[in-house]
Amino acid sequence: MTQELQTEIEQVFKEAERIWDSQKYGDLKRLWDEDDPDPFYLAEEQADWKIGWDELKKYWEPVPGKRMLEAIRMRFYNIKVKPLSDDFIFAVGWVRHDMKMRGPMKAWGGDARISALFRKKEDGWKFIAYTESHKTPVIYMQELYAKWSKIPLIHTITKRFLMQLYERNVHPKFEPFRRRIMDDENKEYKVSIKRRLGFLKPILINLYNKIIGKKVIPKAYIPGLVPCLNGRGFMEEDLNDVSQSFVEESSKMDGLSLDVGCAYGIATIAALEKGAEVLASDMDQGHLDLLLEETPDELKPKLKTKAGKLPDIDFENDSFVSIHCSRCLHFLKPDELIETIQNMYAWLKPGGRVYLITDTCFSGPWKNYLPEYEKKLKAGDPFPGFIEDVLDCLPVPRVPKGMTPHMNCLDPDTLSRECKSAGFEIITAKFFGPARASSDYGKDHAGIIAVKN
Ligand SMILES: C[S@@+](CC[C@H](N)C(=O)[O-])C[C@H]1O[C@@H](n2cnc3c(N)ncnc32)[C@H](O)[C@@H]1O
Repeated sequence: MTQELQTEIEQVFKEAERIWDSQKYGDLKRLWDEDDPDPFYLAEEQADWKIGWDELKKYWEPVPGKRMLEAIRMRFYNIKVKPLSDDFIFAVGWVRHDMKMRGPMKAWGGDARISALFRKKEDGWKFIAYTESHKTPVIYMQELYAKWSKIPLIHTITKRFLMQLYERNVHPKFEPFRRRIMDDENKEYKVSIKRRLGFLKPILINLYNKIIGKKVIPKAYIPGLVPCLNGRGFMEEDLNDVSQSFVEESSKMDGLSLDVGCAYGIATIAALEKGAEVLASDMDQGHLDLLLEETPDELKPKLKTKAGKLPDIDFENDSFVSIHCSRCLHFLKPDELIETIQNMYAWLKPGGRVYLITDTCFSGPWKNYLPEYEKKLKAGDPFPGFIEDVLDCLPVPRVPKGMTPHMNCLDPDTLSRECKSAGFEIITAKFFGPARASSDYGKDHAGIIAVKN
């Protein structure tokens, strides 16, 4: 029954889309209960509610026959209905608008939440109230910037500016009110020194273990990131989408998989657990020793390890069904990267797949290089994210021990091009965010899944 009502209400929204598409906004009243004396309407750009037919008709058609807009397109989505009685339905969902006003301004677009109340009439469900509501502006702006993060500095300034507007808008009576509540509660919510210095604990434990020569996986002092032993960044404690595909798909393939640049083997262990056979490789034997220690005994027969450094490390041709290389290729210079991808092609059996993940200029300190990246990209530089001197981006005076002096931040297009020229067919090429806060809009990583046909 609710499904039928859901379909009926979705049809009303589809009809509203058709009317908006026709640009004859006055026709929207056909979807409303014209017998209702007080229709309620709130559009996201309105300062206040439109209540009653005079206000509503004036809103749809300020000057009948003329319109201020060149074009508007409305799309309703994720509609959910809640029947209130036989005659009334409450519905919520989202609306996407894209529009262009007359005049010099450009087109713009946005998404808002909606809710609506419908009354049953002889000719179907009719609106009696409709509301569009935005998220709070700071959150909304942050989400827009997350989709389009080309100018990070402006993002920070805008956020601060918006927050100041909020701060100035606090009601004068709020402060004594807040103080009274806090006095009544008689508790101080200060962040304790212990908590503030909490990040030091893993650093001190790591230092102590290093001094006494205890070989253990270091503690994460940045949530989700375990420091590597050799200064080559951090291993993510969570699997990203592309690594997850490696784990899932390798376990269904018959043969050996390679996880190169595996660190302590987050992906290796996950693949072993799913039933894959894995050769784990890393430039640091210490990482591989700890991986062997961490691997449950029953999985050890399916694990091999080999220490070595890209691009020089070699494996037999046609020996793997899949190769995973996560957040390691960006340490290679362009010619080393090209050589490595060609080697990977040779190491794979026909039908085998590579799963490659790299950092981009949208991640961490490399964001400082974004303006240069954009310039080089525009000028057609084949490796626009190649940073010759990491000190241009890192907030430290010297290159950290073990780190390369350069960084080759990649993007899905550059990676795709090199994979194709090595002979691969691309299955997926995309930007994505850190594994822990996986988001469709994040661009911290470039990921590729490609196949050797
Ligand atoms: C940033 S960590 C990534 C670890 C893990 N794969 C992940 O995605 O979280 C980079 C790893 O690659 C290894 N590595 C860096 N450069 C390498 C190279 N040229 N050859 C082989 N391994 C390398 C480092 O030792 C380290 O374990």
